[in-house]
Amino acid sequence: MTEPSLFQEITDFGNRANPWPLYEKLRSRPVWQEADGTFVVGTFREIYSLLHDPRISSDPANLLPEYADKAGPLAQAGSSLPPSFIRTDPPRHDTLRRIAMRQFGPPHRPDRIEKLTPLLEDVVTKLIDGLADRQQCDLVDDFAYPFPVAAITGLLGVPPEDEPRFSQWVGPIVDSTGKDSPELTQRRTDAFQQLGMYMFQLAQSKRDNPGDDMLSGFVTDDGPDGRLEGGDLFSALILLLIAGHETTVNLIANGWLTLQRHPEVLQRLRTEPDLAIRMVEELLRYEGSVHFLPNRTAVADIEIGDTTIRKGHPIVLVLASGNRDTGCIPHADRFDPDRPDNVHLGFGNGIHYCFGAPLARLEAQLALTQLAKRLQNPRLVEDPPPYRPSPVLRGPIHLPVAYDAVL
Ligand code: HEM
Repeated sequence: MTEPSLFQEITDFGNRANPWPLYEKLRSRPVWQEADGTFVVGTFREIYSLLHDPRISSDPANLLPEYADKAGPLAQAGSSLPPSFIRTDPPRHDTLRRIAMRQFGPPHRPDRIEKLTPLLEDVVTKLIDGLADRQQCDLVDDFAYPFPVAAITGLLGVPPEDEPRFSQWVGPIVDSTGKDSPELTQRRTDAFQQLGMYMFQLAQSKRDNPGDDMLSGFVTDDGPDGRLEGGDLFSALILLLIAGHETTVNLIANGWLTLQRHPEVLQRLRTEPDLAIRMVEELLRYEGSVHFLPNRTAVADIEIGDTTIRKGHPIVLVLASGNRDTGCIPHADRFDPDRPDNVHLGFGNGIHYCFGAPLARLEAQLALTQLAKRLQNPRLVEDPPPYRPSPVLRGPIHLPVAYDAVL
């Protein structure tokens, strides 16, 4: 029997709770080449420079045909749709992203996140109120999972009365197990169809009666690049749902786990309101939720040190390893919310830098601060907790927490 490669060990479920020693080994070389021709990169500098390198593509069409199955889960989800901008390259990527961004942030809508804040606070309050009748909860199922769905429905302007139906379809679409059963694949296909029909009707009604939400902006506001129409609109909406869901669930769950393991920071969070901003930034570095970007390829040969990354081969960028690179980040293995100049790869970098970063930051800050303030004497029931199967979006599948009371 042949030895498993380092990357096989990294993706092995048995190492999910503690991949860090394997990442340290990964960083002993700037680039690893797997037997199947995949290149794996785990050092901060190399990941950063590849994310800014125009010879790197996010479009699966640039993979050699023998690597078509390496396109990644987002490329396969809803594959009858045109590729969303996360899977395209300039100039198309930049146009689609600019159109979407026009409804989300400065300079056109600098108020979008600010206006969403009361709704997010309200959802957090209600979810924590819902924990008061017990002395133990699953912080994933009872809190972290429903929260981002509520955030995205608020952002898009889905009416509150439609939220239960909407969440029902979102479940199978955003649940990534890594390997889907035929039942899940079928449920996902059905959910896509139903969500598609619903969004089509909602878009129509927003066109007739626009509100102050992102979907209304998408269907009524022509910027210099025009509008997202038809399949492009639906692809962008699905992308926002998928890209913003499990990533945020995992950041909140990984965040709570980290706070429980660092009780001095948990205690400070209760009394120092400003700490939340720095603490979430440090979480994105130290226990971020996107461990790899598994979906890049080279459009030309690229030399790094004495290795040539070959054109058309898959490239995996292990962001979580780069974030713990002691060669670039002082005492990178320490969780230190007070660290100055916290530069990390938790939201990627370069042209695909996370579109939803301001929303994700705010969600995590609100969620973790309120949990810290309101759960009395919280304790982890299991450490380490059980993890989700995915090595890419890494986080606990359940996080049982016991507490004395809810304030
Ligand atoms: C892109 C992480 C939340 C929307 C990305 C990328 C990362 C990331 C690493 C880069 C992907 C690549 O280079 O291929 C995260 C994390 C989140 C989070 C850790 C939460 C903690 C969100 C939210 C939204 C969102 C809430 C939506 C509102 C997107 C989109 C892209 C993206 C649309 C693609 C951008 C592009 O291709 O130009 N995210 N994300 N993300 N994210 Fe997030």
